[in-house]
Amino acid sequence: MTLEITRRALEDVLLPAGAEAVPVRLIASPADAALTGLSEAERGWVEAQGWTGKQGSVLMLPDGQGGLGGVLLGTGGKDWPEQSPLLTGLLAGALPEGDYRFASPLPDPELAALGFLAGLYRFTRYKTAKAAKARRLVLPEGANRDQVLALAEALYFGRDLINTPANDLGPAELETASRELANAFGASIKVTEGSTLLADNFPMIHAVGRASDRAPRLIDLRWGSEHAPKVTIVGKGICFDTGGLDIKPPGAMALMKKDMGGAASALAFALLAMRTNLPLRLRVLIPAAENSIAGNAFRPGDVLPSRNGMTVEIGNTDAEGRLVLADAIALADAEAPDYLVTIATLTGAARVALGPDLPPLYTDDDELAAGLLASGREVGDPLWRMPFWAPYDKLLKSSVADVSHIAEGAFAGSIVAALFLKRFVRDAKRFAHLDIFGWVPRDEPGRPKGGEPQAARALYQFFRRELGTS
Ligand code: BES
Ligand code: MN
Ligand code: ZN
Repeated sequence: MTLEITRRALEDVLLPAGAEAVPVRLIASPADAALTGLSEAERGWVEAQGWTGKQGSVLMLPDGQGGLGGVLLGTGGKDWPEQSPLLTGLLAGALPEGDYRFASPLPDPELAALGFLAGLYRFTRYKTAKAAKARRLVLPEGANRDQVLALAEALYFGRDLINTPANDLGPAELETASRELANAFGASIKVTEGSTLLADNFPMIHAVGRASDRAPRLIDLRWGSEHAPKVTIVGKGICFDTGGLDIKPPGAMALMKKDMGGAASALAFALLAMRTNLPLRLRVLIPAAENSIAGNAFRPGDVLPSRNGMTVEIGNTDAEGRLVLADAIALADAEAPDYLVTIATLTGAARVALGPDLPPLYTDDDELAAGLLASGREVGDPLWRMPFWAPYDKLLKSSVADVSHIAEGAFAGSIVAALFLKRFVRDAKRFAHLDIFGWVPRDEPGRPKGGEPQAARALYQFFRRELGTS
């Protein structure tokens, strides 16, 4: 239902090529050739305004009859897609209601169109007065309409999931959203819930989620041909992370509705793959749980069994993500997928290392790393490689169990978490892990403050290339 509404709203915003609209020119500098397309009066106006084409600056051009004749958007230079991939998203905030078209050459028409749509996004679920300022865009030449719509739809879907607060998005609602997605594309879905998690041997997912009255569950979505390459994505679905008994301080807890960001990215990727029919056998696994506090909560010092038999000593109940992921990874790994990718808002340390916009990528496969980094860069969904630094693996040593899930010191938190996950990967042919932030801390072009399903587009681009459909 909601999927359909989003899709239709986006279709309405993207006008067919050739439709009448106000021209928007992207200008790198006052010497830009695109300015020669302007009338003498318009060029005079640009000069009179002292407009320099600074990145992100917008100049409206009068048409001489009291109307809007055109728009200039400063790009700050030819390499703007690298610095601000969704720059055209600025137009959403700057322009009055109306129809627009790009009237200067675009380095990447699809990205320019996606940026516009990405900038129009608003999370309005709880706004009683829904501001409907209609700005539409003519599909730029060289952009595929279905492709742009799919990318925008996936972005909106992922953002909505992350932005929805935990009171309206618990494990059950995350399951509902997954089912809606599965139904829309004829995917199959299996959910293991509550005490069945124990019976079916997912002890750590159960332990992390059991203190919430909202039952934890493992969502298992499958789609595509059995004969295609097996791609399994595991997304962390912690719908709210209080930290459990090792409770988070208020500042750290405030944003923890976004702790299902990995699940949102995994589902956004699934939407893209299914909407555009990528030739892969897709499996999405989402361990969904709320990390809550109650008398039956798991505790520091507990030793948990895990799906693959390894026993895990709990050092801090706030390192819950790696526990639920480990059980899901063990399940995924058992069928030896060609690709196994985990996406998770796993550590604060990742944000300290690389900031909110650049998720660490871990893999031992140099080719996979190069492919993912290049794909991310290409579509403006950047990643940065960090090492599975084997010498740090010893930090996970436990004196009572097979492994501890955290290190004693606070060093290399993101690497240590990644190394913990890696312990549960045995047979998958290629493994990559992404430690995302899942959130834009303040408004950026095309990226309004709020949830962001990072890495979904990078992964999609990678598999598009890898499977030879682009
Ligand atoms: N969900 C958090 C990680 C997180 C925090 C991601 C802030 C993005 C922003 C995760 O469950 C967590 O609490 N990790 C702890 C691990 C620690 C206890 C070893 C962390 O990073 O502090
Ligand atoms: Mn936590
Ligand atoms: Zn967490």
